Amino acid sequence: MKFTTGIFDELALQVKKIAKVMDVINLSIGSPDLPPHPKIIEVLTREVQNPQNYGYTLNPGLEELREALVFWYRHKYRVFLEVNETIVLLGSQEGLAHLPLAIINPGELVMVPNPGYPIYEAAAKLAGAKIFYYPLTEENNFLLEIEKIPEEILKATKLIFLNYPNNPLTVLASYDFFEKMVFYAKKYEFIVVNDLAYGELTFDQAKSISLLEIPGAKDVALEFTSVSKSFNLAGIRLGFAAGNPKLISKLTLLKSNIDYGVFKPFQKAAIEAFKYRDIIISDLVKTYESRRKVLIDSLKKWGWEVKPPLSTMFLWAKLPSGFSDSKAFAFNLLSETGVAVTPGIGFGSLGEGYIRMALVADEEKLVEAAKRIGSYLQGRSIT
Ligand SMILES: Cc1ncc(COP(=O)(O)O)c(C=O)c1O
Repeated sequence: MKFTTGIFDELALQVKKIAKVMDVINLSIGSPDLPPHPKIIEVLTREVQNPQNYGYTLNPGLEELREALVFWYRHKYRVFLEVNETIVLLGSQEGLAHLPLAIINPGELVMVPNPGYPIYEAAAKLAGAKIFYYPLTEENNFLLEIEKIPEEILKATKLIFLNYPNNPLTVLASYDFFEKMVFYAKKYEFIVVNDLAYGELTFDQAKSISLLEIPGAKDVALEFTSVSKSFNLAGIRLGFAAGNPKLISKLTLLKSNIDYGVFKPFQKAAIEAFKYRDIIISDLVKTYESRRKVLIDSLKKWGWEVKPPLSTMFLWAKLPSGFSDSKAFAFNLLSETGVAVTPGIGFGSLGEGYIRMALVADEEKLVEAAKRIGSYLQGRSIT
């Protein structure tokens, strides 16, 4: 199967081009602009100096780090895991990409969200799976309505990808939702995966739920987490899968044919990150809450009302009236104002009519971005 260049690549190329002639405010990628906690950098610096840290680390990752993950699950979600129910990944994206290859046969059915973070579709394609795109719309509060999926699809399904808190839709799922998913997974004998990359980034006292909180989930479920967004460590490429031990073993086996583990200093840095987790997360959430307010308030001044997200580091904004083509909107906005946002269509057909803005610039820049967006809208006499 061939992979083609998508809107994300086109946008990145355009950002580069425009940056040569204009100051670009890039709100298109979810790559945190904030630094990691100084303690994390301190450990990383120390560990990099140790010549013994340069060998292969091998899968499934340092026991001490996996124990830190086990502790975190217990502390945050009251989920009790054994270390052999966890694996360290080269970023959660890597594990998500490889999971279907490890557990699905070509031609089997995988369900992925539309709109959705692109890795689920790519992962299914890598494994030669058939894909069923389940719709996430405002009418269903961007939640999979499993009871509306035709029975023949449910019977054929081997794996469902869920992503709550959701990127790009910014919504959370409830305990009842996950409970229903586990029930259906058992009834129709499929595996259910939740991508919990944004589990720490919830606002206004909202709290994420882990799929693994559901009694019996471990029989049918895996969950993916990451240090990228929680600890501003996107570049070190480190994430986790946790849940059903047989699935973990299959993923570990596949990975042992592909990679030899995450660089030891990175794993040590992640252990340190978990030690300071409470303070890091509470500061980070405050920062995103404040940025969210600043951007939403500033856009409102220019006549664009955006619903505040309860989670993630994004705004998922319906295009102002008069606009319907998210790609044209994003590319014109970029070339005229230097503000880069992601067109909703990049996440699937049902993302059309929306754009995603990442809160990855300081407040001053966000105000400036809103001002430029406002002048763009006024130029088209929309506001
Ligand atoms: C929903 C979701 N899952 C996974 C990832 C990838 O995370 P990682 O850096 O751990 O590979 C991202 C990154 O943006 C994401 O938005």
